[in-house]
Amino acid sequence: MHPKDEKYALRMKNVSKRFGGVQALDKVAMEVKAGEVHCLAGENGCGKSTLIKIVTGVYEPDDGTEIEVFGERISSNSPTKARAKGIAVIWQDLALFPHMSVAENIGIDELVGGRPRVAQFKSIKTRAQGVMDRLGVSLDLDAPLSSLPIAQRQVVAIARSLMSDARLVFMDEPTASLTQSETDALLAIVRNLSADGVAVVFVSHRLAEVLDIAERVTVVRDGKLVGVYPTEGMSQSRLGELMTGHMLESEVRARDKTGSDIMLRVTGLSRQDQFENVSFDIKRGEIVGITGLIGSGRTELAHALIGMTRTDQGTIELDREVVRPRNIREAIAKGIAYVSEDRLTLGLVQPQPIADNTVTSVLDKILGSVGLISSQKKNDLVDGWIERFSVKIGETSDAVSTLSGGNQQRVVLAKWLATNPKLLILDSPTVGVDVGARAGIFHIVRELADEGLAILLITDEITEAFYNADRIFHMADGRLQAEYDPHQTSVQQLEERVYA
Ligand SMILES: Nc1ncnc2c1ncn2[C@@H]1O[C@H](COP(=O)(O)OP(=O)(O)O)[C@@H](O)[C@H]1O
Ligand SMILES: [Mg+2]
Repeated sequence: MHPKDEKYALRMKNVSKRFGGVQALDKVAMEVKAGEVHCLAGENGCGKSTLIKIVTGVYEPDDGTEIEVFGERISSNSPTKARAKGIAVIWQDLALFPHMSVAENIGIDELVGGRPRVAQFKSIKTRAQGVMDRLGVSLDLDAPLSSLPIAQRQVVAIARSLMSDARLVFMDEPTASLTQSETDALLAIVRNLSADGVAVVFVSHRLAEVLDIAERVTVVRDGKLVGVYPTEGMSQSRLGELMTGHMLESEVRARDKTGSDIMLRVTGLSRQDQFENVSFDIKRGEIVGITGLIGSGRTELAHALIGMTRTDQGTIELDREVVRPRNIREAIAKGIAYVSEDRLTLGLVQPQPIADNTVTSVLDKILGSVGLISSQKKNDLVDGWIERFSVKIGETSDAVSTLSGGNQQRVVLAKWLATNPKLLILDSPTVGVDVGARAGIFHIVRELADEGLAILLITDEITEAFYNADRIFHMADGRLQAEYDPHQTSVQQLEERVYA
């Protein structure tokens, strides 16, 4: 019997875990209501994954820890026992089987010895279809898992957990390597789960996402509970402060660039169903922010500027010359650089060495015989940028995947700056970067602006736009709604407009 009427899916207190000399968790408490979307937030290394591993039976907690799941006290735990109690977890590495089909992956926990596999799979497929309908997704059940992108594999992992009637699902940084549209789709699934009565504990670094999806957020810092807060009325700046324990940037650095030359002028730019009549300019040395909710058309605008998509109407002028890039290669040749939001999938070739990623083969291919970068200069360039950006690395021959998010982002920046751009478009540059490490990236961005680069900063982290841009546009429904001067407004006012 499932205690569905139980008010709390999870209640725990005094959760402690020590690894040798590291007190990973120190008397943490957490409560999740049935059917609630609850975020667990905190900086890297604060103990989020450890907490999840304790509830799901992977780690044994230290003495004194008390855990109650659906009103039932848990005295001894294991992954199997946790699953039997209706707990599921979607790990970052997903723990799926690439060589098996979607249906086989969804049904893997259901396979039991004895009965013929063919008969079992028939019933598994029927139930898998039912689960996908519940999630509001459609996937080819017969496709091999290896043919699916990471976002869809995640859906498979979620479907798998529902097959065993999970009523408390943990998702450990599920959006870390997703693009914004994939994130959007995942958030819709999480809402469906919650509407279906499943409680979801969602771990994320992204402040905007946390405030968007969760009803309440439990904040942990250095293994200790900071507090539990309703997301209603919570601002990104406040949440960031709770996570890091110190006031984040609170100094408005916006400079007045009214008198400077115009580097980028966009006039009446439209693309059907994506953005409409977008007009703005960016002066030489100016940082212009565009903020808004996920899906407001910001990334689509960036894609048009870099030549990834065509526009229906309007003009783009760069340095007083009309440009119509038909592809990324042409945009680069004209002086436009683009650090995409999906850094982890598009911007970098993860297993490749840092040196190759700075002036990657990807870029070499785009540039082709234009040959903006000679190969003998490559090492000098890499060393120069890495020194300048103080990327913390072992050897330039190490794989990029060994770097932290903040350092990866610096490598991507270095790669693009090697093309000597006039306009740098940054799309969600701090996704996957610790709140505390973001200042370093913006320090570099400001230096680049001071050297005359025009910078377009696209972000859904409102504080990020507020403290780093010289002017801010609010975009919604494919249109620029209004322009703000950070000296004349406040973060709270801006947040109220965006979330109105
Ligand atoms: N298996 C382990 N052995 C030793 N130390 C660990 C282990 N797992 C986590 N830690 C340490 O515990 C702390 C919390 O880690 P973790 O729970 O992974 O943090 P988060 O998920 O919030 O990034 C970190 O200092 C980490 O190095
Ligand atoms: Mg973790």
